[in-house]
Amino acid sequence: MRRAIFPGSFDPLTNGHLDIIRRARALFDEIVIAVLDNPDKNPMFSAAERRAMIEEILPEIGNGECAIVVDSFSGLTADFAIRKKAGAIIRGIRAVADYEYELRMALMNRRLAPEIETVFLLAAEEYSYVSSTLLKQVFALGGRVEGLVPTQVEKKMREKLAEKI
Ligand code: PNS
Repeated sequence: MRRAIFPGSFDPLTNGHLDIIRRARALFDEIVIAVLDNPDKNPMFSAAERRAMIEEILPEIGNGECAIVVDSFSGLTADFAIRKKAGAIIRGIRAVADYEYELRMALMNRRLAPEIETVFLLAAEEYSYVSSTLLKQVFALGGRVEGLVPTQVEKKMREKLAEKI
């Protein structure tokens, strides 16, 4: 059984994340989308909200041969991967700018859990500039984000913004 975790903040999940999940499906029997519970980072959505949003969208990804599940975690990604008996950690790379941070993280995770490989997948070019942080900024200032996040996420972002007004 080839199991991988796909850790991230997913605050919120973007079409770039979905693109990576779709690409990873062909490589693994099971992917655990691992939502980092990081209240100290003052996220837009709680870990429970992020998890629920991803679960709502999952049927659209179409599992195929690969089972996709959602979980949340706090603490070290390497520890979570070990707990899940995963053989790999999936990370998406958008552009060269991601590389240095991802390299440091992968090497640290390798030190913490030498038996777990980090697998980098390249996001589609059309999402190479899409990040959750940028999206939240654009959205909060009234910019359009359709096509960059699933429609369910856009709706939840609108509701969240309305709550604050
Ligand atoms: O979506 P993000 O914010 O780029 O994901 C970053 C994430 C969650 C993968 C990273 O911050 C992480 O692994 N955090 C958990 C704590 C940890 O393991 N830190 C050491 C990483 S080497």
